[in-house]
Amino acid sequence: MSKLNGLNLLIILGFCCLAALPQVRSKNLNEFISDSDNVIVKTDANDEIYDFPSCQIYCHGPLLHTVQMAKLFQDSKTFVDMKLKFAPEKTMEDFEAMMESKNNNPSQDEIREFVNSHFGDKGTELDAWTPPDWIEHPTFLDLIRDPDLKQWGVDLNNIWKELGRKMKDDVHKNPEYYSIIPVPNPVIVPGGRFIEFYYWDSYWIIRGLLYSDMKDTARGMIENLMSIVKRIGFIPNGGRVYYGGRSQPPLLTAMVKSYVDFTKDDMFAINALETLEHEFEYFMNNHSVQAKGHNLAGYRDTTTGPRPESYREDVETSSGFLTPEAKENHYSELKAAAESGMDFSSRWFINEEGTNIGNLTQIMTRSIVPVELNAILYQNAKTIAEFHSKAGNIEKMTEYETKAKKILEAIQAVLWNEEVGCWLDYDLINNKPRNYFVSSNLSPLWTKAYNIADSKKISDSVLNYVEQNKLDTFPGGVPNTIYQTGEQWDFPNVWAPLQYIVVEGLDNLGTPEAKNLSKSWGHRWVKSNFEAYRETLAMFEKYDAEKFGGHGGGGEYGVQTGFGWSNGVIIEWLAKYGREISINGKDAAGENEN
Ligand SMILES: *[C@@H]1O[C@H](CO)[C@@H](O)[C@H](O)[C@H]1NC(C)=O
Ligand SMILES: *[C@@H]1O[C@H](CO)[C@@H](O)[C@H](O)[C@H]1NC(C)=O
Ligand SMILES: *[C@@H]1O[C@H](CO)[C@@H](O)[C@H](O)[C@H]1NC(C)=O
Repeated sequence: MSKLNGLNLLIILGFCCLAALPQVRSKNLNEFISDSDNVIVKTDANDEIYDFPSCQIYCHGPLLHTVQMAKLFQDSKTFVDMKLKFAPEKTMEDFEAMMESKNNNPSQDEIREFVNSHFGDKGTELDAWTPPDWIEHPTFLDLIRDPDLKQWGVDLNNIWKELGRKMKDDVHKNPEYYSIIPVPNPVIVPGGRFIEFYYWDSYWIIRGLLYSDMKDTARGMIENLMSIVKRIGFIPNGGRVYYGGRSQPPLLTAMVKSYVDFTKDDMFAINALETLEHEFEYFMNNHSVQAKGHNLAGYRDTTTGPRPESYREDVETSSGFLTPEAKENHYSELKAAAESGMDFSSRWFINEEGTNIGNLTQIMTRSIVPVELNAILYQNAKTIAEFHSKAGNIEKMTEYETKAKKILEAIQAVLWNEEVGCWLDYDLINNKPRNYFVSSNLSPLWTKAYNIADSKKISDSVLNYVEQNKLDTFPGGVPNTIYQTGEQWDFPNVWAPLQYIVVEGLDNLGTPEAKNLSKSWGHRWVKSNFEAYRETLAMFEKYDAEKFGGHGGGGEYGVQTGFGWSNGVIIEWLAKYGREISINGKDAAGENEN
């Protein structure tokens, strides 16, 4: 009965892609021990960093370089997801012998032969997995009135089964043969080329699971992420060793809060505190940037070299930089953008005139203070304070309230722009705000990173900002930016997570006008996604603002379907708006009606 069977999985993943691994290598392997998963972890906090045993193959080094530059696969991510047939050390010895025998200049066929003899197919470390807590009729379906939307809800619920993945036992026994990072529980993946967990995607997936009554699967995914923080100190961009030099927008605390709000399991919150504090401090300390005398956070990456999963692409983009230092610098800017999840976008371009007009060669992510990262960190501090109060620890609660207050002051002083009437990213090179629309400019509304007493004033300014940027004129949703560059996080693409942040943010603001606009945009998103689904029977990684029912394109890889976060947002909004929206009523054409 599902329209989707079989097709659903066209998955695409979205967003982005993520990046590379830690290249931070330990100077002294003896300082590392193996935990039960055999993942190398650091035993003392002095200086060095962790490394994963398979990193010499998948994260950096001559083998990675030679294979990725040979262009054996259409998508650079394919190679780094292939399993090793022999241990990393033997693989490297054989590789060196092969190189020597070919005078360090092997042909493409010779490299292909080496890869075929030493690597197995990609993705074979994961088995399809049907979540045992999946049920046919989750309660959110009862909240939907329109029969077509209800059937869509049934189809979306079915897709969870297609996106479930469980690691084979061998991954836990022999992690050095794989690029996947071992985690204890099965996961729901985004879909398409994204066959492992991704950090910020998981937030919307987990909320969708909670609305689908799959609390155990949701908790398992949160526990995976916490186990990674315990092992390596933070959560990488995605579940592969080659992503280990960067994280993503830090939504773990918000995932725990979502779970606790649904289950009322306060002990889960209290038991998570140490890990959540650890991740919070990591972002505050290891991502800090200074602006106007305030401490804020920015995106960055700790590795050297191109993104392993987009290696050749990065080498090509950097070809105009002449010195190794300049190339390295450029790679770091690209990887920092990947950490933001918005890879890539004019949002990160600073040209010589200090504007956002340009291309990837002008990417300066590390010199831009991003609104949403700081808004999320504010919320994390508030939530950690709330969890401490559940535990009755007033001292710690006060400590985190104070941290939140400092972040709020910094956001007000550096990111809020009174003239424009909205928050703006800040350019550290030219010491000025970046007055360009990015949907993340509205993210403080979502995390309530403003003085609640100012709600009316902020509502007036933000609605004026919406008007100035004509954001209500797009039939397919609010675009991520209004600048068209061909990059996938620019016009006309619309992404579910940012649509969610904007719509929920306006709702939180609470004035009648803001709530009205929020509902109008929420309905529009549901109807437009439904139209795309009706036509294609697929859920997409990104959509098209200019076309009702249109889906997105552009960027480095083909259109991906599936798609975890898109499904999560729609399931939540079917629960939220399901009694109000009718597809076959007058609004069905999806004009800009509210
Ligand atoms: C964070 O920075 C500290 C101090 O520079 C460093 O010792 C630590 O290894 C970093 N943590 C991670 C996980 O990169
Ligand atoms: C990117 O911008 C640089 C600097 O303006 C320019 O020289 C280069 O031609 C541009 N590249 C492309 C592909 O447009
Ligand atoms: C809400 O939106 C509708 C349709 O756009 C409009 O007619 C109405 O005046 C709005 N109400 C408020 C309070 O803004």
